[in-house]
Amino acid sequence: MITAKNLYKNFGKLKVLDGVSMEVASGEVSVLLGPSGSGKSTFLRCLNGLERIDSGEIIIDNVYLARNRKSIAEIRSEIGMVFQHYNLFPHLSVLQNLMLAQRVVRKRRVRKALEISRELLRKVGLSEKENSLPAELSGGQAQRVAIARALCMKPKIMLFDEPTSALDPVMTAEVLRVIRKLAGEGMTMVVISHEIDFARDVASMMHFMYNGRIIESAPPDNFLNSPRSEIIKEFLKIAK
Ligand SMILES: Nc1ncnc2c1ncn2[C@@H]1O[C@H](COP(=O)(O)OP(=O)(O)OP(=O)(O)O)[C@@H](O)[C@H]1O
Ligand SMILES: [Mg+2]
Repeated sequence: MITAKNLYKNFGKLKVLDGVSMEVASGEVSVLLGPSGSGKSTFLRCLNGLERIDSGEIIIDNVYLARNRKSIAEIRSEIGMVFQHYNLFPHLSVLQNLMLAQRVVRKRRVRKALEISRELLRKVGLSEKENSLPAELSGGQAQRVAIARALCMKPKIMLFDEPTSALDPVMTAEVLRVIRKLAGEGMTMVVISHEIDFARDVASMMHFMYNGRIIESAPPDNFLNSPRSEIIKEFLKIAK
């Protein structure tokens, strides 16, 4: 479903992606971790064309990500992305937030958009909040609305960039429960997260990024119990 081959990207003189490759098959969950500034967010942003790579290849569900708007638009329509800060429109209700892109991008009729919005609010456990404004939600609830909003577009892939790092433990658990459910339903996902227990449960593969490279990739048991790299051993000591 996702093929990233030999991605390179610089910001000025700074090498941010230094030959990154990753394959994610349909229904698999890749968990990406690594220290701050190692390039994780940049990698994710490149995958859906928010950021341009200098060289390398990205293929999403058999579509080659080229440098033209058409292919970027095509790829983005397959991918939902959720960030650390949920970026809901503050002046719109939960329901309006969910309906907006469906109406504008997917050109869905009001009734259809409403139906899908309510279905996904139910899924994230927030049916009773449809008329609330984002400011009236807890961080965990707002993040679940952001997830529902992304799911309304019926993406084939979901990308999560530290979806719980701004949340307290209770809200983190609420959000992770939703992501686990998606994993159980076979959604293909790349998740940047340092929640180790969560990663152990849902990851097909775990990847460690360091200075713009993925220095180790392994299934969670191997990755967590017997990482080869000393850097990862040290990192996991702190993360646990
Ligand atoms: N638009 C930009 N312009 C210039 N430099 C950037 C830009 N975006 C990111 N960088 C730099 O690229 C490097 C990688 O950033 P990135 O956000 O991908 O790291 P990260 O692994 O996601 O870190 P964190 O864990 O803190 O989120 C950092 O040194 C960052 O300062
Ligand atoms: Mg980041």
